[in-house]
Amino acid sequence: MNSEKTTLSKKAEILEKQKKYLWPNHLLYYTEPLPLERGDGLHVWDVDGKKYLDFFGGILTTSVGHNRPEVTEAVREQAEKLIHSSTLYPNEAHVNLAEKMAEITPGKLQVSYFTPSGTDADETAVFLAQTYTGHQEIIALRHGYSGRSAIGMSLTGQHTWRIGGTHFMGIKHAINPYCYRCPLKMTYPSCGVACAGDVEDVVKTMTSGRIAAFIAEPIQGVGGFITPPPEYFKMVQEVVKHYGGLFIADEVQTGFGRTGDKWFGIEHYGVEPDIMTMAKSIANGFPLANTITTPEIAESTRNAGLTISTFGGNPVSCAASLATIGVLEKEATPQHVAMLGRQLRSGLERLQEKYAVIGDVRGMGLMHGLELVKDRQSKEPSPDATKQLFEATRELGLLIGKGGLYGNVIRISPPMTATEEDVAIALDLLDKAFAKVR
Ligand SMILES: Cc1ncc(COP(=O)(O)O)c(C=O)c1O
Repeated sequence: MNSEKTTLSKKAEILEKQKKYLWPNHLLYYTEPLPLERGDGLHVWDVDGKKYLDFFGGILTTSVGHNRPEVTEAVREQAEKLIHSSTLYPNEAHVNLAEKMAEITPGKLQVSYFTPSGTDADETAVFLAQTYTGHQEIIALRHGYSGRSAIGMSLTGQHTWRIGGTHFMGIKHAINPYCYRCPLKMTYPSCGVACAGDVEDVVKTMTSGRIAAFIAEPIQGVGGFITPPPEYFKMVQEVVKHYGGLFIADEVQTGFGRTGDKWFGIEHYGVEPDIMTMAKSIANGFPLANTITTPEIAESTRNAGLTISTFGGNPVSCAASLATIGVLEKEATPQHVAMLGRQLRSGLERLQEKYAVIGDVRGMGLMHGLELVKDRQSKEPSPDATKQLFEATRELGLLIGKGGLYGNVIRISPPMTATEEDVAIALDLLDKAFAKVR
């Protein structure tokens, strides 16, 4: 009885301090926010001791599960040797990680610039493309997300994530390949992927015709796991090249095997990006991001002016990343993810047959979304059903994510070390939770 009292007050204390000392624009899940205390593998516990199966993975970040011992050990070892050096001094973990990145990324992507966040990585990619091409303008996609800096928000194609009204004039947005809500009101495949043509229209009508880059996520994450058709990126890449731009693949959410079968999402589309950005899953929760490119493109930065990143290539984060990739290679390979992805997909499709509120099931590997609608005919988004499902899954001990411009997409993205049993349990809990949605 006493300990119940203590934990209850601990929760209240955390929530009160959150309210009092942190900006009110911290987005918090659930009607009553959920303070977490500890994690282990696929599970986390809240301050009241309640256990949850984590099928969001800390926004697709705990790639090998919470508190994975190999990662913890690598971090401890590195922290005892050297915690900080900045990018002014080479260090072993930094260069070893850069070597590993060159090994696992496709094609000519060989040289890295590490920074602390995905926002940083995307900004670094923009600056690199501008330096290399001598052009300024960037094409991004509607419904995309690139981060919370001024450039990040300008690249982002959702009003909800663009606070303050900042917008860099040189950034233009083409329509996105959102097949479920086709912006051209067409149907795949008879549409011939007509949306890809909008990139050229935007270049011709809204830019000088000399672009620095096109940036896109292979699957739009915050946008609600919007998954382009297989032909899309090849068609767009030709246009981008023609107008002198580079192709930046933002793999912040899709990287490190998340989409199954391949290490990076863009590899499913048979195109080789000129620049790739990554973060989130890279270091299992330690702050780290990377912008990787070809030696030729990187060379253009040599005399372009000074730049440093105080926390970029932080030895502890790099050590965590090397250990994370080691675990992925050993037990959560892209093939493992693909196998679980098939199980997850067929389970979600069964739920779609059962519950009319599920309008669309989409995604790849361990990155699947469910778009919830009021009815399948009108496809009117149902953020209310999403909210109900959230509360029901919390109650049942399952963590999931949310996304989409209309706040009506459920995002499912567990740590990639998940097992078939974890997926089966999550599907069962989802089934029970959907049964409660009115
Ligand atoms: C695709 C994509 N790019 C960039 C970012 C920004 O990353 P960060 O939050 O680490 O700055 C995010 C974050 O959600 C993202 O999903």
